Amino acid sequence: MIVVKDVSYTYMTGTPFEKTALKNISFDVADGEVLAIAGHTGSGKSTLIQIIAGLIKLTSGTVELDGLSVADKKIRRLVGIVFQYPEHQLFEETVESDIAFGPKNFGLSDEEISARVEEAMRQVGLSAELKKVSPFELSGGQRRRVAIAGILALKPKYLILDEPTAGLDPLAKENLLKEIFGAVKKSGVTIILVSHNMEDIARFANRVVVLAQGEILFIGTPRELFAREEILSRAGLEPPPITQLLHELKIDEQALTLDEAEKIILSKERELL
Ligand SMILES: Nc1ncnc2c1ncn2[C@@H]1O[C@H](COP(=O)(O)OP(=O)(O)OP(=O)(O)O)[C@@H](O)[C@H]1O
Ligand SMILES: [Mg+2]
Repeated sequence: MIVVKDVSYTYMTGTPFEKTALKNISFDVADGEVLAIAGHTGSGKSTLIQIIAGLIKLTSGTVELDGLSVADKKIRRLVGIVFQYPEHQLFEETVESDIAFGPKNFGLSDEEISARVEEAMRQVGLSAELKKVSPFELSGGQRRRVAIAGILALKPKYLILDEPTAGLDPLAKENLLKEIFGAVKKSGVTIILVSHNMEDIARFANRVVVLAQGEILFIGTPRELFAREEILSRAGLEPPPITQLLHELKIDEQALTLDEAEKIILSKERELL
């Protein structure tokens, strides 16, 4: 479990560029949960996850992972973080060696490393034939998968993804999350998903934290969030297109997915006939 309590953070304190990025943030993440963090650009999402991963030093408040302070070096092995555009950090000659890079630093045996590489490739939907290929010969979507596989191969208990689908084409986007979330959730990993994309949040998140200008505006389920127009508009977010469509059809019920919308619209159609 992750417990974030009263966290505030200011960049470049005491300079003319001082910027308060987070104010009094408190929330929990339960084991096995997918928690989304949503908010407009500059709302503090990336700052918050870097604090949770121990990459930015806490100056006010506390963060605990399984009862350990985030300042404790032991948490490093618990958390895996995938940054925005992680494929920019690929540098090894083959897919295999790129994914193996982190596990190698853990001092694991060659056998264990190659088992982890294979499993991680499977989890992100990369064919094993790509092992010996240079990451630079792959498509953007595939490179992103390699980068994510490199983090999964560390077997983190807590996986943090910062806008994992940003900049991918719609098909690559769709498959990436479906595959990762399907495979990773089965292994009991707890996920924090930073996203602007309300459709992704509707489909994959159990709960969502909405940030605006460094403060929490809302914590609850996606369904509760999409019913709160004032929160969405204050946070500069839009509900998923399918939720908007029903709204525009003046249908009172809420749909988060295409399947739900189809059922609702078909039932209304019957009422009209
Ligand atoms: N290294 C830094 N130095 C100074 N200010 C920073 C730094 N990083 C972020 N900020 C500022 O802190 C605030 C929060 O930034 P952060 O990157 O956490 O937002 P974000 O929600 O991740 O935005 P985006 O959606 O654009 O990724 C912004 O006002 C940003 O300009
Ligand atoms: Mg960010």
